[in-house]
Amino acid sequence: MLETLNALESEGLQALEALSASEELPVWYRGYLGRKGRLTDVLRGLGALSAEERPGAGRRANEVKEALETAFHSRQDHIREAELQASIAGGAVDVTLPGRPVAPGHLHLSTRTLRRVREIFAEMGFQVYDSPEVETDEYNFELLNIPAYHPARDMWDTFWINDKVVLRTHTSPGQIRCMRENHPHPIRVILPGKCYRYEQITPRSEHQFYQVEGLAVGHRIRLTDLIGTMQEFASKMYGAGRRMRIRGSYFPFTEPSVEVDMDCILCSGKGCRVCKHTGWLEVAGAGMVHPVVLRNGGYDPEVWSGFAFGMGVERPAMLMHGIDDIRLFYGNDLRFLHQF
Ligand code: DAH
Repeated sequence: MLETLNALESEGLQALEALSASEELPVWYRGYLGRKGRLTDVLRGLGALSAEERPGAGRRANEVKEALETAFHSRQDHIREAELQASIAGGAVDVTLPGRPVAPGHLHLSTRTLRRVREIFAEMGFQVYDSPEVETDEYNFELLNIPAYHPARDMWDTFWINDKVVLRTHTSPGQIRCMRENHPHPIRVILPGKCYRYEQITPRSEHQFYQVEGLAVGHRIRLTDLIGTMQEFASKMYGAGRRMRIRGSYFPFTEPSVEVDMDCILCSGKGCRVCKHTGWLEVAGAGMVHPVVLRNGGYDPEVWSGFAFGMGVERPAMLMHGIDDIRLFYGNDLRFLHQF
C-alpha cells in the first residue's frame, strides 16, 4: 500500500510539472484528486487493510493528498501567470473593445415629487428649513400644544427611542425649531422630510412617508393668505384652474384648523372610485398657528400671526401616476422604479 502511494505521489508530481496550458489543469485534477481519481481509489482500499497496517497507510495517504493539492495550486498559479504575460506580450488586449455599459440610475419618484413641491414654493418665496427626523417628545408633541394626556396623541403613535425621544410623526416640530431660530423675523418656509408612524402597513399606509410642512409667520397674516397659497400650489402642481374647498377640522397646534381639498384630478370633480365619489381629494391639513405654539416659538401672538399646513408626498404622486399601492415606494423593486 505504501509503495502504491509513493509511486502515485511521484508520478502525480511529474505529470503536473509536464503541464503547460491551463486547459490541462482540470484533467490532471480529475485524474488524481477527483471523485473518481487515482488517489481516491487508493483511499477506498484502506478499509480492506489489516488493523496494524491501516493507521500508517491512512497517514501517508493524507500526506500524499496534501502534497498533490499544494503542488497543483502552485502549478496552476504559475501557468496562469505565464499565460497572462504571454497574452499581454502578444498584444492580445483589445483596447478598442467598447466598455461595458454602466446602467445610469435616476431619482426616486418621491424625490422628484418633493423637488417639484420645493420648486413651486420657492417661486412663492418660501425657503427650505431642514429639521431632525429623530425628535424629542417635547418638540414632537408638547410644544405643539399636545400634552401627554391629550387624546390627540393617539393619532400620532410612533416609534420611541426612549421615554423622551421619538422618530418624528410629522414635520410640524420643525415649526418650533424654525421659529426659535428666526425670532423675531418674519418666516416663510417649507419643511420637507421623512416621518414615521406605528402603522399597520396596507396599500394605503406605510410606517414611513414624506411630508411637506409649510409655515408663514408675520404681521396681519390671515386665513385667506393660507387659502391663496394652497390654491396657487394646487394649480402649479396639478394643473391650472383647480377648485378648492376648505372644511373645518381640528389640530391642537392650529386655531382655527382646516382641511384643504381640491377637485379630483382624475374625474375633475364628477366623482370616481379614487375620490370615493365625492369629487374631492384631501390636499393638506392646515390652519392659523395656535397662540400657544407662536409663544413657544418666541413670537407674541398679540403682535404676530401665521398660517401652517402639512401635506403628504406619496399620495399625490400615487394620484398623478395611478399607483395603487404605497408599499411600492419602499419595495426597491426596479420594475417599479424604472417606470418613473
Ligand atoms: N402635522 C399634521 C399631521 O401630520 C398635519 C398638519 C395639520 C400640519 C395642520 C400643519 C397644520 O402644519 O397646520 O397630521
